[in-house]
Amino acid sequence: MSTPSVILYDHAYGDFTSGAEAAVRRETYGEDLGQSSWMTAAEWLGFADRIGVDASSNVLEVGSGSGGPGVYLALQRGCRLTGVDLNEHGVRNATALAEARGVADRVRFQTVDASRPLPFPDASFDAVMSNDAMCHIKGRGDVLRDWYRVLRPRGRAFFTDALVITGAVSHEEIATRSSIGFYLFVPPGENERALTAAGFTMLAVEDVTQNAADLSRRRHDARARYARELVEREGQENFDGLQRFLMCVHTVSAERRLSRFAYLAEKR
Ligand SMILES: C[S@@+](CC[C@H](N)C(=O)[O-])C[C@H]1O[C@@H](n2cnc3c(N)ncnc32)[C@H](O)[C@@H]1O
Repeated sequence: MSTPSVILYDHAYGDFTSGAEAAVRRETYGEDLGQSSWMTAAEWLGFADRIGVDASSNVLEVGSGSGGPGVYLALQRGCRLTGVDLNEHGVRNATALAEARGVADRVRFQTVDASRPLPFPDASFDAVMSNDAMCHIKGRGDVLRDWYRVLRPRGRAFFTDALVITGAVSHEEIATRSSIGFYLFVPPGENERALTAAGFTMLAVEDVTQNAADLSRRRHDARARYARELVEREGQENFDGLQRFLMCVHTVSAERRLSRFAYLAEKR
């Protein structure tokens, strides 16, 4: 059985300000940062605090999406931030958002394929943060070695990965779970191994699967309430595909067959 490819990010970022997309985000996340992931505002700030982000920090955010989480972090913690994402709709939206929220002097966004060497000098950041994007990026070993390069000594790397295989998953579930683009599924321990191989010292690993289970269900149900507007924008086939994707994320996460972990590591 082949699963049709479903478009998520082009609609989420290209239609960012549309009434239906904004309402779905509000009803999914409570506080709407503009996220397109399994993360709440409280979780994002908690991650930043564990990394030690403050007003003196220069942060690189990999997979910055709509720019909403990066702009929010800069406003809440006073840091400088550079966000990179492959999706041009996301980068365009993010740049406008930084301007509109008055932080364009210290928050900027660039279109970058983060599977390639990053266009930044050695030791130029205090922290690299990435929420729910690593699973989309090819070549994790090289990617982490490049994060190591752009971090200053004792700088911190942080990412979440919702595709750690912690139970039995069928081929149909894998196909549905990966219907919105490139995905890498990994066994438990692989991210710790890759971070250590890149030179990092592991500081912490946290199971953050519950938000994936809860937010996927809430996003599914909120989208169902705005079905008419969303179908008009994205088409019936895409709408149905995304609903199947969200229910699949909910089921495999709630049953802990795919888990989401947060990894924190430090450059030596
Ligand atoms: C699940 S979204 C998370 C976005 C944001 N971090 C958030 O929490 O809302 C994953 C993001 O990774 C981006 N992405 C996928 N492949 C990428 C790549 N090779 N380089 C940079 N960004 C990539 C996608 O465009 C998308 O914005």
